[in-house]
Amino acid sequence: MLKFAAAALASALLVPSAFAQQKKPAAAVGFPDAPGKEVLVSKCFQCHSPNMWMDQRQDRRAWESTLYRMVGRGALWTEDEVRQMADYLGNVYGRKQ
Ligand code: HEC
Repeated sequence: MLKFAAAALASALLVPSAFAQQKKPAAAVGFPDAPGKEVLVSKCFQCHSPNMWMDQRQDRRAWESTLYRMVGRGALWTEDEVRQMADYLGNVYGRKQ
C-alpha cells in the first residue's frame, strides 16, 4: 500500500513537470541568450507564434516600431519592456546577422 502510494505520488509529480518542461522550452527554443530574452519570451507568444517574426532582420529602431505596432494590436507592455525587447531583437535579430 505504501509502495503504491509512493508510486502514485511520484507519477503525479512527474507527469505535470514533464508537461511543463515540454511546453515552455518548446516555445523558447532557438532564442539566443542575451539581455531581454526573458521579457521577449514571456511576451511574444500570446497572440501568434514566433514564426511571425523570427525570420525578420531589422535594426533596433525598426524593431521598436514593430513592437509599437503590436501595442496598437492590443499588447499591454510598459515602455521599459518595449525597450528591453527592442534591445534584444536589435541585438540578436539585427541586420548584421
Ligand atoms: C496583443 C497581441 C500581440 C502580441 C502580444 C504580439 N503580437 Fe505581433 N502581431 C499581432 C497581430 C494581430 C499581427 C498580425 C497578424 C497577421 O497579420 O496575421 C502581428 C504580426 C506581427 C508581425 C508581422 C507583421 C508586422 O506588423 O510586422 C511581427 C514582425 C510581429 N507581430 C512581431 C511581434 C513580436 C516581436 C512580439 C513580441 C514582442 C509580438 N509580435 C507580440 C499581435 C500581437
